[in-house]
Amino acid sequence: MDQKIESSDLSTGKNVRTKTSSVLIFFVNGKKVIDANPDPECTLLTYLRDKLFLCGTKLGCGEGGCGACTVMISRIDRNTNEIRHLAVNACLTPVCAMHGYAVTTVEGIGSTRTRLHPVQERIAKAHGSQCGFCTPGIVMSMYALLRSSPQPTMKDLEIAFQGNLCRCTGYRPILEGYKTFTKEFSCAMGDKCCKVNGNGDGNGNSCNDNSSNNVDDKLFEKSKFLPFDPSQEPIFPPELQLNTEFDSNSIVFKSPRVTWYRPVELEELLQIKAQNPNAKLVVGNTEVGVEVKFKHLLYPVLINPSKVKQLNEIKEHEDSIYFGASVSLMDIQNYLQDLITKLPEYQTRFFKCAVEMLHYFAGKQIRNVASLGGNIMTGSPISDMNPILTAGTVKMLVAGMVDGQLKTRYVHMGSGFFTGYRKNIIAPHEVLIGIYFPKTLPNQYVIAFKQARRRDDDIAIVNSAINVFFKPNTNIVDQIFMAFGGMAPTTILAPRTSEMMIKQNWDHVLVERVTESLCAELPLEPSAPGGMIAYRRSLVVSLFYKSYLVISQKLVSAGIIPYDSISDEECSGAETFHTPILKSAQLFERVSSEQSICDPIGRPKVHAAAMKQATGEAMYCDDIPRMENELYLALVLSTKAHAKILSIDATEALAMDGVQAFYSSKDLTEYENEVGPVFHDETVFAANVVYCQGQVLGAIVASNQSLAQRAARSVHVIYEDISPLIVTIEHAIEHKSYFPNYPRFVEKGDIGTAFKDAEHIFEGSCRMGGQEHFYLETHACVAIPRDSDEIELFCSTQHPSEVQKLVSHVLSIPAHRVVCRSKRLGGGFGGKESRSISVALPCALACYRLRRPVRCMLDRDEDMMITGTRHPFLFKYKLGFTSEGLITACYIECYNNAGWSMDLSFSVLERAMYHFENCYKIPNIKVGGWVCKTNLPSNTAFRGFGGPQGMFAGEHIIRDVARITGKDLLDIMRMNFYKSGDITHYNQKLENFPIQRCFDECLKQANFYMKRKEIEDFNKNNRWRKRGIAVVPTKYGIAFGVMHLNQGGALINIYGDGSVLLSHGGVEIGQGLNTKMIQCAARALGIPTELIHISETATDKVPNTSPTAASVGSDINGMAVLDACQKLNERLKPIKEALPKADWKEWINKAYFDRISLSATGFYSMPDIGYDPINNPNARMYNYYTNGVGISVVEIDCLTGDHQVLSTDIVMDIGSSINPAIDIGQIEGAYMQGYGLFTLEELIYSPQGTLYSRGPGMYKLPGFADIPAEFNVSLLTGAPNPRAVYSSKAVGEPPLFIGSAAFFAIKDAIAAARAEKGFSTNFELHAPATSARIRMACRDKFTNLIDEPHADSFTPWNIVP
Ligand SMILES: Cc1cc2nc3c(=O)[nH]c(=O)nc-3n(C[C@H](O)[C@H](O)[C@H](O)COP(=O)(O)OP(=O)(O)OC[C@H]3O[C@@H](n4cnc5c(N)ncnc54)[C@H](O)[C@@H]3O)c2cc1C
Ligand code: FES
Ligand code: FES
Repeated sequence: MDQKIESSDLSTGKNVRTKTSSVLIFFVNGKKVIDANPDPECTLLTYLRDKLFLCGTKLGCGEGGCGACTVMISRIDRNTNEIRHLAVNACLTPVCAMHGYAVTTVEGIGSTRTRLHPVQERIAKAHGSQCGFCTPGIVMSMYALLRSSPQPTMKDLEIAFQGNLCRCTGYRPILEGYKTFTKEFSCAMGDKCCKVNGNGDGNGNSCNDNSSNNVDDKLFEKSKFLPFDPSQEPIFPPELQLNTEFDSNSIVFKSPRVTWYRPVELEELLQIKAQNPNAKLVVGNTEVGVEVKFKHLLYPVLINPSKVKQLNEIKEHEDSIYFGASVSLMDIQNYLQDLITKLPEYQTRFFKCAVEMLHYFAGKQIRNVASLGGNIMTGSPISDMNPILTAGTVKMLVAGMVDGQLKTRYVHMGSGFFTGYRKNIIAPHEVLIGIYFPKTLPNQYVIAFKQARRRDDDIAIVNSAINVFFKPNTNIVDQIFMAFGGMAPTTILAPRTSEMMIKQNWDHVLVERVTESLCAELPLEPSAPGGMIAYRRSLVVSLFYKSYLVISQKLVSAGIIPYDSISDEECSGAETFHTPILKSAQLFERVSSEQSICDPIGRPKVHAAAMKQATGEAMYCDDIPRMENELYLALVLSTKAHAKILSIDATEALAMDGVQAFYSSKDLTEYENEVGPVFHDETVFAANVVYCQGQVLGAIVASNQSLAQRAARSVHVIYEDISPLIVTIEHAIEHKSYFPNYPRFVEKGDIGTAFKDAEHIFEGSCRMGGQEHFYLETHACVAIPRDSDEIELFCSTQHPSEVQKLVSHVLSIPAHRVVCRSKRLGGGFGGKESRSISVALPCALACYRLRRPVRCMLDRDEDMMITGTRHPFLFKYKLGFTSEGLITACYIECYNNAGWSMDLSFSVLERAMYHFENCYKIPNIKVGGWVCKTNLPSNTAFRGFGGPQGMFAGEHIIRDVARITGKDLLDIMRMNFYKSGDITHYNQKLENFPIQRCFDECLKQANFYMKRKEIEDFNKNNRWRKRGIAVVPTKYGIAFGVMHLNQGGALINIYGDGSVLLSHGGVEIGQGLNTKMIQCAARALGIPTELIHISETATDKVPNTSPTAASVGSDINGMAVLDACQKLNERLKPIKEALPKADWKEWINKAYFDRISLSATGFYSMPDIGYDPINNPNARMYNYYTNGVGISVVEIDCLTGDHQVLSTDIVMDIGSSINPAIDIGQIEGAYMQGYGLFTLEELIYSPQGTLYSRGPGMYKLPGFADIPAEFNVSLLTGAPNPRAVYSSKAVGEPPLFIGSAAFFAIKDAIAAARAEKGFSTNFELHAPATSARIRMACRDKFTNLIDEPHADSFTPWNIVP
């Protein structure tokens, strides 16, 4: 492509000397902020939290990927005088860019002390806040939406939340709560609408009453919601509106390291750029911000062009639309969207393509600020816009100042624009001024596709854009440009193939030639960065084929080719998924009409801290106000996976001004340095040898975070590599790298005889990856020195007692001098059970030695690198079964990848060994377990704790039997289900085993048989789309595997005013434990919940606590609470009898004056448990089981591997629920986490043990758009559990495995695709079922074109641990 130099009318001829300011002025929540020395390196988030003490806005990732930091910025558009309100990520927004803007944070819209904003109230009351760490961000996304669109549509909601993640709720309750603001919710009946007045479906879905006598479906009461009145919102600060100097003045802010310019004239901008060719333009800062934070790049000159007219205007020309390079992607999207409705269809084909692509470009917060210029200039090989612009060969205007003269030129995207990885032909002194989007011609079609790991807010794996011109009124190709991303260091064209297509008919014959040619023209080295080589290559072909089908359909519509040119079945290949509008029903047992209205048990009470969480007033560890002499700690981490430490040199770091100390293993005795949750096989700081990347080598303590982190990076470590380096389970097996005492076996019956007698024998295997916890709040700790030999820690931990114990060990002081407190956690999921020590112990040491408060909150990348994951597992099994499908024998080997230290891996393995048979009775079993020792960070507890991994094997086994016997899977399941009275392979008798009932109710609820028939029909009629359905039962044993942990404690203090302070041993990690404990105490004491408060969990209130884990938080602590209440009731009994008419306050008053103790401890020890095959074979392994069944229907795109869950139905037996809203929240949240585990979430490691997936950019949790289109949950009624508090059952972990229903439904759909083409339905699909695995399992003519190199012939870019 020629890059023409032309003149343009850019020069304004103006004198570039404008007025310059150097004081930052902006408004936050209506208050003016003036800063004479703003730091250009400071983000808005840091400024809000550290300088303005507004800690409601949270840090979840620092890279724009989670939305926890969302705030609203408002600014005036001087051209239209309109005020614009935008949700943005404060973590990427430079505070300097806020000059003249108004910022609104969650604190600015409402508070529990004044009045909640309806946006805050509704998320809280709809049960949309569990741990609450994501809540302020979600609140602000919704608030910003309402400020620009007071009655949004459900589609607007979908877009508003594209950039927000929640790890707890499963999203359904958030959407249900916020649906009440939408057009779709409002009804012509107004206040009389049954959805509002309470007669309709509790969740506002329909006006049908689907509740019955003993079943309730109303989790919250919409009629009591505060009305939303848009006219009551705060106004834009008049000063900003009236004083135009905020926009017309140039700005210069200087710090010792960085200068920030905000020119207002083009010449000024170009002059600065000419003088500083390496300067970065900062528009959205969504690239630069990430580079600075995570690649630690320093850009001494930053230029913000937001006020330079030419870069910010939009102009319509006859044949194109001009977008200034700094126009935000959202503005481009909106402008084009509007134009599409106005211009003739044929002219808008390029625009449509861009709009559709922009929908999937990042999240709304990013699109609100990120610019097209930034996307082009970054030149990422997986940029989403560059393929479209390249295929469109768009024209761009570039300008630069040469010898004081403004020079402009036009350049074109297309061949030759990108000159290398992130390089292009625009010179360093030049600036991209604008881009021209072409109007298309009648015979021109433009189609683009993007395939990512997750549909919303994800970067592409491969994307494509095709721009084809036909000879008028024919299907003969006149000219074609095909651009692809993700296939080379730059966006690339396929010129050879394009050349070959010219003058050819657009038909099936051409497709064959093109696909073969593309395969040859776009090869990938087997070890190319990004991995997934075969998948990426097949995507090129598949995306071309999709484009072919779409364009063919258009040619059919235009009457150019006959309607039967493509068959109906083939057409399914042209489709893409769109987020459906959620439908849901949540059913639970209605409390008896005889139950006192004050008795809260069984009622859907709102999470006790939900309101505070929604207003940002709830404090998490890092929200604790900073102390005057506080220091910040940064960890020095190993960059080698297995190496000898030759030296550690902190001289350079210690020389930095403000750095106080460096600690390493040399600062502790060998004994003090050795720590671990059970076995002390870890170190606080690595000594002599490192065993994984991310292992803590030392800690720097400095006056602030950025200094501490910079200093930590300048600690020099010299290593000497050690062999072998073991990363995967397979490596461990090869090297026999197991922890001592493994393998272990559990046996029942006689497998030898059973295999001999078996009619069928089958050997199989299955494999699943790990999972990152991704609690939204990373590990954090604040350590404070008290008296000379005392220390207090505020710690984000699920196990305060363990932190206390290990701090006492490391500091060599008794435990009674150490207090550990945890008020609430922004999620834990097991990841903060034993791994909190990585942060807490160095903080404690530094604090104790320096006698100063020390704080550390890990950055997301550090947290992901250091703290381990769920255990990857490999299972190999041999089955014996009858021709009818009755399983008679199983030998199974279970291997988990433990990482370098034992942590809790033995218990995780054991639970997998005890759960692998799931709900199926296998009379003869031998199960062996191996804990594999590898050079990865130590893997640890994660919701389910090995149970889901074990049951994953069980569900493979049952499906193998059904497949081989050719029987209906449901019949095989029924035939093999355990029944009440059956005994497991660890000798536990199953009492009241309800699986058959859950199964039948779930089949009915899901309309299973009808759905299965519909799926069969659908699959017959669609070649490239297949649907699958799966039923998955679960049986989860409730108790800690380690006996002594099955104890709980509580302390109740009643004060003179009748208020009750409850403490117990559990930690509120979002699961609603405190709410349930308050409900239990309220019933036991016979008082309203409002009188009871839980402040925190602390080791000086309740000692020797167990971790909040194993789902038993409510069971063990609830019973302890009841014990304490009972003691108090007994003491109060005589007073109540003497004063029957008095009220609670009067009784308490009397008791006080009668000198009766109003403080009581409670204790509980779980009875009858402690199974040990040798020493205690008759005891129970588990106190009881929580069971359930889930059914998911999934549709897959066989060409891309994309999928959508169409429906999920769950029936769970959780006894008599203490709080159905919380329990349903746990079920839905667990399902979504399980869904993530089995389908989306993939940890990516290099063969050297480097974790590549270190943030939300690469590690994809399910987002709002991933929830099942229909999501129904029922709690089994009439099933009280005699073995736990108020007949309830544990719920936190058991439903997680049901998420695998999506995996097995996907496998079912793939099997349908394979069967249709005659491929075997016995195929391996490792979890997670990523788009790559799905696509490659759906074998077809396109995948057959891709030759896979032999595994030993190259070193892959990544490996599966
Ligand atoms: C969470 C997240 C999700 C993302 N998702 C996607 C995605 O889905 N698809 C995708 O393609 N990208 C994605 N990105 C990348 C990024 O958002 C885009 O590249 C964006 O368009 C960059 O624009 P910006 O204004 O923020 O750039 P900035 O960070 O402000 O600037 C980026 C670079 O462009 C240069 N630059 C900017 N304007 C000019 C100009 N006029 N002339 C010369 N140089 C200029 C700057 O000097 C700098 O080097 C994502 C980023 C994040 C953080
Ligand atoms: S913290 Fe800003 S998006 Fe995650
Ligand atoms: S409530 Fe959303 S992350 Fe916890």
